[in-house]
Amino acid sequence: MGGEARVVVVSNRTPAVFTPSSVEERRNLPVGGLVSCLRPFLEAQGGIWLGWDGNSDAQVDSVPTSITDVEGISLASVSLSRDEVEGFYNVFANRTLWPIFHSFPDKATFSHDSYRVYRDVNRKYAESLLALLRPGDLVWVHDFHLFPLGLELRKLGWKGKIGFFLHIPFPPSEIFGIMPWARELLTCLFDYDLVGLQTPKYLHDLKESLVDGLGAVVDGDTAHYQGSTIRLRSFPVGADVQAFREMAQSQVGTSVSRFLDVLPKDRQLLLGVDRLDYTKGIVQRMQAIEQLLDDHPELRGHVTLVQISAPSRVTIPEYARERERLDSLVGKINGKFGEVHWLPIHTLHRPYSQRDLALLYREADTCLVTPLRDGMNLVAKEFVASQTSDPGVLVLSRFCGAAESMHDALKVNPYDFQETASAIYRALTMDRPERQRRWKALYEDVNRHTAHDWCYSFLSALGDA
Ligand code: F6P
Repeated sequence: MGGEARVVVVSNRTPAVFTPSSVEERRNLPVGGLVSCLRPFLEAQGGIWLGWDGNSDAQVDSVPTSITDVEGISLASVSLSRDEVEGFYNVFANRTLWPIFHSFPDKATFSHDSYRVYRDVNRKYAESLLALLRPGDLVWVHDFHLFPLGLELRKLGWKGKIGFFLHIPFPPSEIFGIMPWARELLTCLFDYDLVGLQTPKYLHDLKESLVDGLGAVVDGDTAHYQGSTIRLRSFPVGADVQAFREMAQSQVGTSVSRFLDVLPKDRQLLLGVDRLDYTKGIVQRMQAIEQLLDDHPELRGHVTLVQISAPSRVTIPEYARERERLDSLVGKINGKFGEVHWLPIHTLHRPYSQRDLALLYREADTCLVTPLRDGMNLVAKEFVASQTSDPGVLVLSRFCGAAESMHDALKVNPYDFQETASAIYRALTMDRPERQRRWKALYEDVNRHTAHDWCYSFLSALGDA
């Protein structure tokens, strides 16, 4: 990485809000993989992290200035008005880009007004960012909320390095091209020096869009368009492996550890940990559990699924509908198979701390990571990191970035609940030597690509770009 360069990270929002009294409260919220992989690096190395403060009551033209130092990271805030949050975050980011990038075009909304707000808000982020920058800083922009940020920063005169990393999948070019703004979004990428994606597959799909959609010339890991050149590479995001290993070994008197203490010895624990999002395949996972209990009555009373589904984007209709579908299906399955002393599924609609999750990962006999589509999925890697000498088994969707390297998981098509049910059965009945062999291979992969490695490799490539 380039010598003494400061790292300035920008993402839609940061892990904590900025009034001292509420920092702790927000710190415990798992806001997804982006925060889990960036926070340990910035806490260790220092740096500035700029993002939305999570409120929606700012005056449209308010100038964001506040900075709070939290464990070595300087957190700087962007304030947004109600209309900005609606157009930028709720509609364009989460109801247009999110479904398109996850290959759910039928769930996408197209509104020119919201696109305008998206562009304006990106300009606002750029203005806040410019006020923080010093010559020589490395600017690292994260995720789909901020495609045009590099372009806006260049318009304001910034000449230094800017990198962009996309945490979510990049869709096949025929799906990406559905968006009326596809060409403009691709053009925005040419104001970055380096563009990173999670996997070689998404890199391939981006290159195809650049060629098909824009007529750019792609030559190995560079793309050229109208006199500008960018470098393109895949950088698979990793977990904070050491931290999860340590947390998994510590015994603490939380409600989770008490639950684990009273779990009957003849009861196997299945675990799911997700944001409550339709891309995560939670409803399909429940259908697989129903199938499992239909096919194997001998398991009734002997398996419990703990499904943590942290509420997410709750004001967006698709998310509210997903919650209703989930609650109704879980009610049906628990009513069908449950007994007074046993329920097959516990759904918990709230976030849990990483410490609690590490304990659950350690104790789980099988972890179900079955998204319909996912950029990487760090739950899969954190589960592997937290295992001990009697490891559990990972059941993993073929359609997430993690599946490209985690070959020793039991891979499933999450849309096929019969296949998923069979894989869960195989996981629950797998002998210890096979579990150990599979875990060892998975651990080698997870430990080779940690969160720290990901940050260093991206930033050193940006420094060299
Ligand atoms: O990983 C995708 C992502 O949108 C991240 O950018 C974000 O940190 C996380 O999911 C949670 O999303 P939100 O901030 O919308 O709750």
